[in-house]
Amino acid sequence: MTAGRVTEQQSSADEVVQSTGWVFNNETGAALTLEQFVETGDREVPAYLTVFGLRDEANEDETLVEIGCGIGRMTCAFTRVFGTVVACDLDAGFLERCHETVAAFGQPDRLKTVHVANGHTLDLPPNSADIAFSYITFQHCDADDALDLTSEAVRVAKPGGKVALNYRSRSRYDVVLLPLGSLVRQMFRIPKLGGWLSSKRVFARLGWQANRLEPNEIIGPLSPLIRDIELWRNPKSKTSGHRATVKEFEGINKHHYWIVATAR
Ligand SMILES: C[S@@+](CC[C@H](N)C(=O)[O-])C[C@H]1O[C@@H](n2cnc3c(N)ncnc32)[C@H](O)[C@@H]1O
Repeated sequence: MTAGRVTEQQSSADEVVQSTGWVFNNETGAALTLEQFVETGDREVPAYLTVFGLRDEANEDETLVEIGCGIGRMTCAFTRVFGTVVACDLDAGFLERCHETVAAFGQPDRLKTVHVANGHTLDLPPNSADIAFSYITFQHCDADDALDLTSEAVRVAKPGGKVALNYRSRSRYDVVLLPLGSLVRQMFRIPKLGGWLSSKRVFARLGWQANRLEPNEIIGPLSPLIRDIELWRNPKSKTSGHRATVKEFEGINKHHYWIVATAR
């Protein structure tokens, strides 16, 4: 939320990327432009769609729901592939920026946005998406919100539709990172100091460390509702889950994993 509010005070989109770009992609540097930022999404979107088996001739007529779109880094590429893209985010400021980004680099006539005002439900009808996709978002939510949004992804997916959802795995650094993240998020609420802290990368980055969910915590409650469950990980990762076929792709961050499944 705080990073989004910062974006509302900044006039240039490039300035937004330079101050908040780290939130979306760790490769960002101080001089990154919005165009370069979108290019990182342009490379990732076709890679993930292809590897997860989500790319086919029907995409032009399909609807993709993106949970946690941010300022539209990947949304632009999605609008070039799918007939309708419903970009959802907790932060209304980011949604405005997402419209601007897609107007500049994507196909704005294919974009709709949904504000996830309460952080855990999608204001969308059931069975309305061919694909529900989320990247680097659930790790930044409260664990309960991440689990609720995971169920929401399955609810909005049509029977036979797919979910492709990204999570962060546990690591030994979490003993330090998660409590520090919680402390920093509390400090964000302090008037003046909070605004200053959120503008500093190191604190903003710590503040976004929110949860780590195990694959079984995600798959367990949903297993009656999904089939053909795949857990995608980096070859260096050992993450695994019950009822999930493990698949590997070098392009996945070694601290991340994905659950890709078909809705029943
Ligand atoms: C790190 S950014 C990732 C954006 C985009 N997926 C990308 O890869 O560029 C995480 C996004 O998740 C959004 N977010 C965090 N918690 C959320 C929630 N509970 N519901 C919806 N969006 C949320 C944030 O506002 C932010 O835009």
